[in-house]
Amino acid sequence: MKLPVTLAKTLKSKPDETQLGFGTKFTDHMFNMDYAPDKGWHNPRIEPYGPVAMDPATMVLHYGQGVFEGLKAYRTASGRIQLFRPQDNFRRLNRSNDIMCIPRFDESLALEALKELVRIEKDWVPRVPETSLYIRPTIFASDPFLGVRASHTYRFFIILCPVGAYYPEGFNPVKILVEKEHVRAVPGGTGEAKTLGNYAASLLAGQKAHDAGFTQVLWLDGVERKYIEEVGSMNIFFVLDGEVVSPALQGSILPGITRDTVLQLGRLWGLNVAERRISIDEVLKANQTGRLQEVFGSGTAAVISPVGQITYGNQTVTVGNGQVGPLAKRFYAAITDIQYGRAQDPKDWIVPVV
Ligand SMILES: Cc1ncc(COP(=O)(O)O)c(C=O)c1O
Repeated sequence: MKLPVTLAKTLKSKPDETQLGFGTKFTDHMFNMDYAPDKGWHNPRIEPYGPVAMDPATMVLHYGQGVFEGLKAYRTASGRIQLFRPQDNFRRLNRSNDIMCIPRFDESLALEALKELVRIEKDWVPRVPETSLYIRPTIFASDPFLGVRASHTYRFFIILCPVGAYYPEGFNPVKILVEKEHVRAVPGGTGEAKTLGNYAASLLAGQKAHDAGFTQVLWLDGVERKYIEEVGSMNIFFVLDGEVVSPALQGSILPGITRDTVLQLGRLWGLNVAERRISIDEVLKANQTGRLQEVFGSGTAAVISPVGQITYGNQTVTVGNGQVGPLAKRFYAAITDIQYGRAQDPKDWIVPVV
C-alpha cells in the first residue's frame, strides 16, 4: 500500500522522557481516513497532527457514536520498535463498530498505516525503561445532523502519545471500592464495545471513589449487583487457592487483550485458569477462609495492577497482607519482557515496525 504522506513543516521539540506522564503530549503526525456511503472507507493518509474542524452539529458530539482503541509501541534495548498484538486491537475496534452501527474497515490496511505512522514517528518512541508510545485509533460519526440515527459519514484517525512508566515509584497495590449503586454496563448494552458512553457512564462513580480515598471502582453486574465485572477501566483477576479466575465475558465486559494474554500465559505455564462468574460474596468468603491469595487488574496502560484492599459497604478486606502477590509479579514481568523484547514471544504477539 502506498499511503500519501504530508510531512509537518516544523517539528515539535521532544519532551523530557523522564517526565512524560500519560496522555498530554502528542507527536507530529496522525493518520486520517474518511467514510462516505458512496465511497466506503477512502482517502487514507498521514498528515501533520492538528485539530479536527467540526460543525457544532457533528453527530458524535450529540449522540456519542464513536469507538476507540488503546495499544502501545515499545522500543527494545537493541533499538527495535515493536507493537504488541495490534491485530487484536483492530479486530476489537471492528467489533465495537458492529455494536455501534459504524461500518467496518480493512484491518490489514489499518495495521500497515499504523506501522507507517510509527516508522515516521520513530524518534518519539521513548528510550527510558518502561516508557512507550501510546497509540489511540478513534472512529467518530461525522454527519452534521441533529436527530437520532446512525451517521452516514465517519472519520477514522490514529494519534500517538509518548507515555511514562506506569509505576515510576514501584509496583504498589491499590485500594478499590466495590460500587453498589452505579453500574458501568448491562447485558444487552454496549459494555463489550470500546465506545465513548461507557467511559462517560463510569465517571461519577470513579469521582466518588477517588473523593473517598480509593484508586479504582470495582464494578458489579448491572442486574443482580452481585457478580464482579471489571475494575476501573481494567479487567480483573482473582487467585483463589491457586485457581486464576477472571469473570467470564458475557456481553457487558470489555474483552481485554491483556486479559487474554494473562489467560494464555497462565495456561501455557500449566496454571489452573478459569473464566467464570465470580461473586463479591465468593471473594469475601474466600478471604475469610484464607483462600483469597491475590487480586489484580489487567490492561494496556498498567499491564498488571495489584489490588491490596477491597472495601464493600462497611467491610474492608486486605488481600495478601497488602503486598504484591507472586502471580501478579510473574505476569507483569513476563508480559513486559515480551513487549520490550527481553524474552521470547511465545505466541506471535509481536509485530516489528523498525
Ligand atoms: C473498560 C475497559 N476494560 C478493560 C480494559 C483492558 O483492555 P486491554 O487489556 O485491551 O487494554 C480497558 C482498556 O482498554 C477498558 O477500557
